[in-house]
Amino acid sequence: MSHPLFKLDGRVAMVSGAASGMGRQMAIGFAESGADVMLLDINLPGAEKTARDIESIGRRAIPVECDVSEVDQIRRAYELLDREFGRIDVLGNVAGEGHGGAPEKIPVEEVQQVFQNLVFGRFVMCQEGGRRMLEQGKGSIINFGSIGGWNSLGRGHMPYGMSMSAVIQMTRELSTEWASRGVRVNCIVPAQVWNDGLRERVAATDGLINTFVSGIPTGRLGEPEEIKGPAIFLASDASSFVTGIALPMDGGNLALNAGGTYPGSPRVSG
Ligand SMILES: NC(=O)c1ccc[n+]([C@@H]2O[C@H](COP(=O)([O-])OP(=O)(O)OC[C@H]3O[C@@H](n4cnc5c(N)ncnc54)[C@H](O)[C@@H]3O)[C@@H](O)[C@H]2O)c1
Repeated sequence: MSHPLFKLDGRVAMVSGAASGMGRQMAIGFAESGADVMLLDINLPGAEKTARDIESIGRRAIPVECDVSEVDQIRRAYELLDREFGRIDVLGNVAGEGHGGAPEKIPVEEVQQVFQNLVFGRFVMCQEGGRRMLEQGKGSIINFGSIGGWNSLGRGHMPYGMSMSAVIQMTRELSTEWASRGVRVNCIVPAQVWNDGLRERVAATDGLINTFVSGIPTGRLGEPEEIKGPAIFLASDASSFVTGIALPMDGGNLALNAGGTYPGSPRVSG
């Protein structure tokens, strides 16, 4: 039997990026813990597939086509949430991509677009969700950052890294503003976790997998399902005194010095 602190029965969660990867797994995890879920994604067929999987375990799920870089679309999704569920207990702020390029060459408009997508999209999701949670006097927001917002990945990641760093700091600011009014705001900071885009990049780039694995002391990349534990913990009353944190889900990546190695590391040991 699961511990009651981790239960989400009777709660409503909104998850962006719910068509695939960690957003999909987070939404399924919330439903498995008892929540009904609203599923946002630009990929509507993908979100509909997640909804069918959630309904098959007996929870309600509503898929919604929404581009989180568009403020109006986010607001419309919240209006639908108000009509369909009338409350929000948990927000999983997952969706959003960033492309990059050499800092000396990338057009500033592309950097602005990455910010629009990752920073302003996540902020508006938090603002809309936070307003409703403050009225209720309770809620939990889980933002997605990245190890790329903690230290530098190089390889043209500057716009992504700047944005994810902003997401981590936004989490601290919101948690400070809202904690005494019952709303917790935390951030998950993943290292490399398998998804379709990563598979393509690894297949196309000689040695990239060894670069990744040499930085992750578990000796492997993460699987999207591994988001369920940290997400259910942060969403539920199990983490009632936890707010403002950036929780690495990184197989030990951030603990490892850039010059360090671990047993089995692809880098030269000794
Ligand atoms: N996978 C990793 O290695 C990794 C590491 C650190 C951080 N992250 C971050 O975690 C989040 C999820 O990553 P993932 O691996 O699950 O990705 P994924 O590619 O498997 O899934 C992302 C989902 O978000 C949707 N999406 C993309 N842009 C959107 C938009 N503007 N509006 C609405 N939906 C949109 C996609 O359609 C897709 O369903 C991303 O923000 C990513 O930057 C991922």
